[in-house]
Amino acid sequence: MHVASHEKQPDVRVVPRRFGRARLALFRTVERCSAFMGGRAWYRAQYLRAGRFVVREERIVVPHLPPDLDGYTIAQLSDLHAGRFLGAGDLQAVIEAVHACQPQAIALTGDYITHRIEEAFELVHDLGQLQARDGVYAVFGNHDYKERRERELIERLAVHGVRFLRNDAARIAVGQATIAFTGLEDLEEGKIVDVEAARRTLLPTDIEVCLCHNPAGARRLARAGCAVILSGHTHGTQVDLPFLRRLGPKHPGVRVQLGPTVLVVSRGLGVVGIPWRVGAPSEVVVTRLCAA
Ligand SMILES: [Fe+2]
Ligand SMILES: [Fe+2]
Repeated sequence: MHVASHEKQPDVRVVPRRFGRARLALFRTVERCSAFMGGRAWYRAQYLRAGRFVVREERIVVPHLPPDLDGYTIAQLSDLHAGRFLGAGDLQAVIEAVHACQPQAIALTGDYITHRIEEAFELVHDLGQLQARDGVYAVFGNHDYKERRERELIERLAVHGVRFLRNDAARIAVGQATIAFTGLEDLEEGKIVDVEAARRTLLPTDIEVCLCHNPAGARRLARAGCAVILSGHTHGTQVDLPFLRRLGPKHPGVRVQLGPTVLVVSRGLGVVGIPWRVGAPSEVVVTRLCAA
């Protein structure tokens, strides 16, 4: 349940990770070589075709869940990273899988691009096909602030009904109950991360689902009282091998109980650097709220 807004809101920001020039140059070179060798076709065939990605269902028991929200289902897509390894048309099987789950709402949890905002424009047609009764809600990830041109993506996706939540909330009446989707700017690269502003319209009886790209602030966010936090960012470490693991963001696990709040971390659908995943399948996460 949402905590009354007069309580002190947590500071959930985290310091951005910055790689040195040499490491970035190495990343770029590996990425270019992989793309030259057919990385995109390979990635699509291995990780985005029907049956090659996972549809992970997370059933979350929410204390005091109103009966009208029992079984409420949210499909989550994260970390698409359009660019050299993912582009227009590559998400068709994923979109079909999402619709097969018949979610009431769809959440997009950031990192649409790899390097340039134009890469995300290629996905507008695919993402524009997403349909759910209660809407499609989105937040930005750390990659998406390159050149500070987020507004261009917002405008293109708004045409298709996708709503970005930038320290903002959408409250949806479901029978006698209300589910509230709050969305935060990225904890590393968003200029202002304002939990209080995101929650200002919520009522104490709302069941809150918070979209927050980076799970690093989830422990502090959970203290503010939301039922579920949906995150991405980690790619499940993408290549889960001991000597490569530390190159990726810190990974808290794919489902973490934080007091009464459940953090669900998507392994995402795209990749950065190399078109390869080990021990971290590409996935759609389907979160289902259940009464105790
Ligand atoms: Fe990412
Ligand atoms: Fe990210």
